[in-house]
Amino acid sequence: MRDAAPQTIRLADYTPYPFRIDHVALEFRLAPVATRVIATLKITPLSSGADMRLDGEDLRLIRATVDGRWLDLTPDATGLTVPAAELPDGPFTWECEVQITPAENTALEGLYMSKGMYCTQCEAEGFRKITFYPDRPDVMAPFDVRILGNEDGSTPVLLSNGNPDGHGRWTDPWPKPAYLFALVAGQLVAVEDSFTTASGREVALKIWVRPGDEGKCAYAMDALKRSMRWDETEYGREYDLDIFQIVAVDDFNMGAMENKGLNIFNSKYVLASPETATDRDYELIEGIIAHEYFHNWTGNRITCRDWFQLCLKEGLTVFRDQQFSGDMRSHAVKRIDDVLMLRARQFREDAGPLAHPVRPEEYIEINNFYTATVYEKGAEVIGMLRTLIGPEAYRKGCDLYFERHDGEACTIEDWIAVFEEATGEDLAQFRLWYAQAGTPTLDVAEAWSDGTYTLTLRQDLPETPGQSDKSPQVIPVTTGLLGRDGAELVPSQTLVLREQTQSFRFEGLPERPVPSLLRGFSAPVRLRHGISRADRLLLLAHDTDPFNRWEAGRSLAKDTLITMITETTAPAEAFLDAVMTVAQDPSLDPAFRALALALPSEDDLAQTLHSGGVTPDPDAIYAARKSLTRAIATHGAEAFGQLYDAMAVPGPYTPDAKAAGQRALRGTALRLLSEIDEGARAKAQFLGADNMTEQLSAFSALLSIGKGTNAVSTFYEQWSGDRLVMDKWFALQISLAAPDKAVRACKALTAHPDFDWKNPNRFRSTLGALAMNTAGFHTASGEGYELLADWLIRLDPLNPQTAARMSSAFDSWTRYDEKRQRLIKIELERIAATPGLSRDVTEMVGRILAA
Ligand code: BES
Ligand code: ZN
Repeated sequence: MRDAAPQTIRLADYTPYPFRIDHVALEFRLAPVATRVIATLKITPLSSGADMRLDGEDLRLIRATVDGRWLDLTPDATGLTVPAAELPDGPFTWECEVQITPAENTALEGLYMSKGMYCTQCEAEGFRKITFYPDRPDVMAPFDVRILGNEDGSTPVLLSNGNPDGHGRWTDPWPKPAYLFALVAGQLVAVEDSFTTASGREVALKIWVRPGDEGKCAYAMDALKRSMRWDETEYGREYDLDIFQIVAVDDFNMGAMENKGLNIFNSKYVLASPETATDRDYELIEGIIAHEYFHNWTGNRITCRDWFQLCLKEGLTVFRDQQFSGDMRSHAVKRIDDVLMLRARQFREDAGPLAHPVRPEEYIEINNFYTATVYEKGAEVIGMLRTLIGPEAYRKGCDLYFERHDGEACTIEDWIAVFEEATGEDLAQFRLWYAQAGTPTLDVAEAWSDGTYTLTLRQDLPETPGQSDKSPQVIPVTTGLLGRDGAELVPSQTLVLREQTQSFRFEGLPERPVPSLLRGFSAPVRLRHGISRADRLLLLAHDTDPFNRWEAGRSLAKDTLITMITETTAPAEAFLDAVMTVAQDPSLDPAFRALALALPSEDDLAQTLHSGGVTPDPDAIYAARKSLTRAIATHGAEAFGQLYDAMAVPGPYTPDAKAAGQRALRGTALRLLSEIDEGARAKAQFLGADNMTEQLSAFSALLSIGKGTNAVSTFYEQWSGDRLVMDKWFALQISLAAPDKAVRACKALTAHPDFDWKNPNRFRSTLGALAMNTAGFHTASGEGYELLADWLIRLDPLNPQTAARMSSAFDSWTRYDEKRQRLIKIELERIAATPGLSRDVTEMVGRILAA
């Protein structure tokens, strides 16, 4: 049943729940089309005379009692109300039996089935599809769970949160909100290990997978143990149960979920072997395993009071997983990767109709707010806080947070307060980062006279939907000054910009310096600095801050491309020479060199052109990138040939950062060389590769130059039995297709017998890949828009969450020319007019159209 008029939920309307849930006992009698759930809740009223409202969706109520007395209740579309008159003044027991249909649950929220296996996804509001319950994060309770499997014995493994008794009963002593509940049942096998905590407690570790996948869990297990150790040493946080389990499932809307003691993962973020997973996959597995594990403290032990506070757990946990990955690999490379992602996703979001604060103030469907802003800008905000107060005070504040709020459901105010206490500073202005949407711009003016250098910084925050008047934020601008010879004149220091305009003076300098601003990308802002090409070349060659070295090259590449697009000129020799100098510099990490050679994406260029007042032409952007790629390849042909040979990694595949970095640089060289050698090296590498990283970089190189036909069929024959590898096969053919071929490729592949549109990974590999092929998606005929809209309309009734997420592909529509805008608008309006459209997609399309 669907809500007729979707309601807007507001932060300002928060009221505590008038009952306390002292204990939850759940009994599941599993059956695919008729699962019975019996919930027994011990409840204490907190204020007399309140009705008891319980959330519930798609539940068939069998019976409900209060202290054993039957009640005659009629649920509505969103739950049921037990009138105060039916409730005693003191503690009572609520018991309720419902029937649900996991086999028909295609939304993958609540209890559903994936390849014969039962599993759950309860965040954010899925528990209400399992039983009637106050499904809100500030209601925390200890859970006991009893699971009775399928009667035919086809579910030998029965899992839930907490510690097991070995007979399908699970006890979780830690009070938790319902969104952290999990249940898994099926034919699964465990890869087992153990971990001894700092205080000497032994924790059993189990990764559950389908039989046959046991050999692909070693890396995930290793990443888990490293995460557990890291949280002890860096944050003083120990694990708190006797067992920690991870289950890999094939049908999952998201990446992974931090259910207490029983994380559930999209199998693509658990399973890895050298033949089937790329270096990037290994890196993601490490980061996501860490992320979900770190939630045990930042999310589970201390949770969110309401969903407006989502960044309290997600922004912080992303920041923690970024720190971890930096410690495990390279901080410089990790920072560049994170900033690339931030700009591609969050800056884009912030510049369009979906812009919202890190802590939103209203929503219709909370699933639509698991966004780049909440996650990635949320993590940046924590990073700025740490930069502003310093690492010691940051750690002190975190310790205080854990000590004071353990077992509580908290707000951003609680989080900020511990740092105010730890430092004695007033962080009121800092809090604006959570409340004001939009990416600040930072304009830079310089003055030089008599040994005094003055930097004047000015911040502006653009208007965003629903927010026009904005106040200056506190912006940490980490800065160093370089001399003309490239030596550092003034080492890094953090300038703190608090006013709209502020000047910073440096005295007694021997010469006018070249500033290196916003080192390490110390704040999520758009820096607008009219720095000369010569000075950027100097930074590229000499900056001591690796991020800014990369950034200097990046901005040169971007300028080059923008000029090529708007004036159809050839790239400057000096730029090509500088690129080659970095590419060949043996003192630089190969992973860094690979990043320095990567050109800004088509979408990034479209974003930049639009913000500079130019209407982006997707075909011209594509052509300019292609032409610059060729120019770099031709200019550096010999050097790339040498690099290609020199970066070969001898011996068997290992997923470590060093080997991965070499493969990344080698792959980049291959991609460039393919532009001029007709794919000769790529063909050889494709056939000879013994690992997926190299097989895929060769496959990608061939597809990019339009010579992938044979490889497509060879790859299919080799890998058609492996779902995760086949997702790559689908995605690359579409994302790397030439602009005029992408829609056709997507149509052909969505008609392929292996296309399973109900599987979110496969849907993303096709329709998501189309949306990522900027010029292909925006093909002038509008066929790309039409194809995506068709599929979103088809997917919506089955899986509204995934349909809604993918609808954000349209969020950049107002950037483009009138004709494209008209074509997109037709599709958005067609989606909006679909009868029975979900709340999820209705909200997204409505917001996008309101641009
Ligand atoms: N809590 C989320 C999973 C989630 C997201 C549940 C949205 C319900 C709705 C989990 O901790 C998470 O953030 N997962 C990310 C990966 C992570 C490494 C950023 C995901 O699934 O994309
Ligand atoms: Zn998370």
